[in-house]
Amino acid sequence: MSVTADTPTTAPARGMNALGDLSAHLLSVLKNNGADMSQLGVPPQPEPEDGLWEDVSVPQARARQSMWRNSIIDAAHDDYVPFRFDHLDEAQKPKTLQSWLDSLIEAKKLDARPEILNMILPGNIGSGKTAAAISLGNEAAERGLWTLFVKHATYLTWRRPDSAPHNMKAWEVRKRFVECDLLVLDELCGEMDVTATEFARKETIDLIDARIAAGRPTAYTTNLRSRRQPGSQAMGVVDILGERLLSRLESSAHLAKIVGPDRRKPTQPLDW
Ligand SMILES: Nc1ncnc2c1ncn2[C@@H]1O[C@H](COP(=O)(O)OP(=O)(O)OP(=O)(O)O)[C@@H](O)[C@H]1O
Ligand SMILES: [Mg+2]
Repeated sequence: MSVTADTPTTAPARGMNALGDLSAHLLSVLKNNGADMSQLGVPPQPEPEDGLWEDVSVPQARARQSMWRNSIIDAAHDDYVPFRFDHLDEAQKPKTLQSWLDSLIEAKKLDARPEILNMILPGNIGSGKTAAAISLGNEAAERGLWTLFVKHATYLTWRRPDSAPHNMKAWEVRKRFVECDLLVLDELCGEMDVTATEFARKETIDLIDARIAAGRPTAYTTNLRSRRQPGSQAMGVVDILGERLLSRLESSAHLAKIVGPDRRKPTQPLDW
């Protein structure tokens, strides 16, 4: 403590000091606006790039954008970061996504419940659902919404004790995905079958129910149909969520079916 600039009093001697001496010294340091960090060998801190923030909404908006980006990186979906509405094909319904996003921004400004809470993007494997949903998230994050991306199966894994990255506790995982302004929940009910555990059912219902109750919008992608089709073994979303929750979800939802071939399929089938 002996390195303050222009300290009017001498610093207390090393060794045992009476408390009174120390507090008089500390008071004088504080009067001089604290210790001179350069004398302590601490390099000066860089100024914020765009001057001092008088409005905390600037760093807050940046923090929200980086949370979105990190959620994409956690999902190993870095390739989708450049996607914007302009890059989508008509089949990926960019106009529907754009006007839904506009309505969410309006609602957020008014602190009101969005008129249409959910966006459901069903489609075949490889038809471009994730690209469409992430372009929505990219645009939403740029416009200031706290947006997060997670695959449904990943969310369920992270909700198990000690399973989430970044030392996140299971309760923090729920809090984050329930509270964000917009959630992109990819592959709803993917990698599940009719024997989906009670845990998976309970956690899924809890997440979706909590978001609907709080009036927070969610975009879902899925390869599944809402209900099992006659003559097909494939499960429907209703088999996991139950009739009551599915009808609550559908009661305030846009449906943007993405119809198209599997974009990943090679033009020549591989022979092996
Ligand atoms: N508009 C587009 N222009 C160019 N490439 C695209 C476009 N949309 C998607 N792709 C690419 O096509 C591939 C499949 O897209 P995507 O992952 O979005 O499909 P999906 O429907 O989510 O597939 P899955 O059912 O396997 O989850 C990806 O490599 C993606 O980058
Ligand atoms: Mg996908």
